[in-house]
Amino acid sequence: MKNTVVTIQEAKNNKEKVTMLTAYDYSMAKLIDEADINMILVGDSLGMVMLGYEDTLSVTMEDMIHHTKAVARGAKNALIVADMPFMSYQTSIYDAVCNAGRLVKEGRAQAVKLEGGREFAEHIKAITNASIPVVAHLGLTPQSLNAFGGFKVQGKSEEAARKLIEDAVIVEEAGAVAVVLECVPAKLAALITKKLHIPTIGIGAGADCDGQVLVYQDMLAMFGDFKPKFVKRFGEIGKQMKEAFQTYSEEVKTGAFPAQEHTFKIEDDVIEKLY
Ligand code: KIV
Repeated sequence: MKNTVVTIQEAKNNKEKVTMLTAYDYSMAKLIDEADINMILVGDSLGMVMLGYEDTLSVTMEDMIHHTKAVARGAKNALIVADMPFMSYQTSIYDAVCNAGRLVKEGRAQAVKLEGGREFAEHIKAITNASIPVVAHLGLTPQSLNAFGGFKVQGKSEEAARKLIEDAVIVEEAGAVAVVLECVPAKLAALITKKLHIPTIGIGAGADCDGQVLVYQDMLAMFGDFKPKFVKRFGEIGKQMKEAFQTYSEEVKTGAFPAQEHTFKIEDDVIEKLY
């Protein structure tokens, strides 16, 4: 069944959990889609996990469109959400609408995600008015890394928690179809989830959110040395991949690969004439 903003809202209404994973290319999008995950996020985390940057700040619109296109070719049923990269919407409402439009028109995303609360309410309204669904992102918003002074859990003081609740209500009123809550104390995320009509999708925000999202490289342990507290490793794929690469290398070097069954034949009388 095709997931849409309507079915995602129905899931919240029916108290069914929503699943979301990141993907950045065709083959992974296809696998995730075939696993019946509801939503695929083409996250600007691609800057770190696919392009090797230290943070998300260098990701461009061209990067996002390129990867969203590939994901859209691989996913039939998942709702595809593309991140609006740093400085693609902060500069003006006009830029926000144009760039959201490019992610839909060129990338074939079905919704866009942007980081921030009340300061971007007018941007969310304008994008929504252009018939593009918006997912808001609150709590730890990695594009504000330099303003936060690092990656930290958000909303721990009474004042910060009140601001987070207000922001969540404001983005819902502005037209957001869902809110990602990143690195927010579980009890605060539960309270926000109760107050909102739209689904909350948590990452490091506890079990009471309406859904969960993870970066696939984290949940598959593809980077052995990186494990944030909120990540559960559902596979040890990094280790398996490395072992497979090493076995391939050994077999090529010893001549064990390719074997007869991997080899194409030619009739002997044909080959003899060529010597
Ligand atoms: O870019 C991303 O992958 C994200 C998730 C961490 C929510 O925004």
